[in-house]
Amino acid sequence: MSTRNTLLEVKDLHLQFGGVKAVDGLTMSVHENEIVSVIGPNGAGKTSAFNCISGFYRPTGGCITFMGKSIMRARPSRITQMGMARTFQNLRLFADMSIVDNVKTAAHATMSQSWYDAFLHTPRFRRTERACEADALAWLDFVGFSGDPEAFVGQLPYGGQRKVEIARALATSPKVLLLDEPAAGLNHTETQHLMALIRQIRDLGVSIVLIEHDMGLVMDISERIIVLNYGREIADGTPEETRNNPQVIEAYLGSDEEDAQ
Ligand SMILES: Nc1ncnc2c1ncn2[C@@H]1O[C@H](COP(=O)(O)OP(=O)(O)OP(=O)(O)O)[C@@H](O)[C@H]1O
Ligand SMILES: [Mg+2]
Repeated sequence: MSTRNTLLEVKDLHLQFGGVKAVDGLTMSVHENEIVSVIGPNGAGKTSAFNCISGFYRPTGGCITFMGKSIMRARPSRITQMGMARTFQNLRLFADMSIVDNVKTAAHATMSQSWYDAFLHTPRFRRTERACEADALAWLDFVGFSGDPEAFVGQLPYGGQRKVEIARALATSPKVLLLDEPAAGLNHTETQHLMALIRQIRDLGVSIVLIEHDMGLVMDISERIIVLNYGREIADGTPEETRNNPQVIEAYLGSDEEDAQ
């Protein structure tokens, strides 16, 4: 087992929507500086688990600890400040804001700015503004964005918007980055670039938790793979162990049969 420090610990997590048990006793952990993937059939509870971990949904049971503190009752903004960032399965950018402003809003979220400073445009406010702008441009460069940062983000092709979303997440200086299907809708070249980018982010000292259906990507990039089915973990191992796990094969074959009906 890993000897690295544990950053995120999820224990016996439950999330129920009416009669639907979206997350049903999930236990998993994320260590320092690793790339771990979360896979599983459609509806297995992957996005729901992310939504609980990042504070968007209030779990109905269990516990979540991040950097040694419980975040069961923390709001998303607090969790971001503590060092966790995420992207969404369906992009959530501000379409009528510029590309650089989309990233700047995230940088702002982690800086201490008072209403007083912003209202009076104090020197401190102007310094912070300049720092946020420089930060945003640097992150756009880091994710490989090349274009006019002042253009509306809604005008970018899909692959470009995905990059901006990752830049926005990085601008909050996370220790853990949750990516929900970042390769969905990307072409082969864009996917290759994304894989290189994910490794570069890990090399900065960030742990990556990746939900992904592209098995080529998952098998290639993951140090560890967690498999969910019906809201709980059914496997946790190396790509090789996961590939040969009968329970995992069964879960995927079962879902293929359902899809075929
Ligand atoms: N807001 C919601 N209200 C009601 N049910 C929900 C809600 N969000 C998710 N569910 C249900 O919870 C279960 C888990 O869904 P979830 O989106 O977490 O799965 P997933 O593993 O991310 O699937 P996919 O691979 O298709 O993205 C599904 O049965 C889904 O219909
Ligand atoms: Mg999902």
